[in-house]
Amino acid sequence: MDPVSATYIEELRTSHFGEMVGDLLFRRLCDRYPEHSRKLRELARLEASVGGLMEAVLERHRAEAEPTERVEALTHQLFDDLGDADWDAFLVRLRDVVVPFVERFERLHDESPAEDRSALRILRDHERALLRFLNAEIQREDGLRQIEVVLAELTEVRPTGRQG
Ligand SMILES: [Fe+2]
Repeated sequence: MDPVSATYIEELRTSHFGEMVGDLLFRRLCDRYPEHSRKLRELARLEASVGGLMEAVLERHRAEAEPTERVEALTHQLFDDLGDADWDAFLVRLRDVVVPFVERFERLHDESPAEDRSALRILRDHERALLRFLNAEIQREDGLRQIEVVLAELTEVRPTGRQG
């Protein structure tokens, strides 16, 4: 295994943390936007799966994940920050969050050592899929297809991975 930089490890930790927050947040939002709970559950499933993948990458580098309390704290804060935003406002806000991560994960993938490449390709692809989902939903189209494609790919990569 090639030596990696501390910055690279920090990026891995941040991305794993983001997936854990995403999983919890999307699950909490099911009560908030019950008419969209099917989509939110699929998004949570995607985040949990990618989070599991990133956890394995962290373990390979013997790096520690962020503590659960931090995941919960940020999730509660994001949930509160949403205020009384309706579904459309939520989609637009989430897109603002996702856009910089698409670029960030592209860079992380391109800089990754060979042993992390396949996991980071999925990290990159799931963020791109999330952006396509949001763009479709904002235009009142069904964006879920984008998410299902990555979920199917994840099932192939991790046949014993966490489901639902
Ligand atoms: Fe994610």
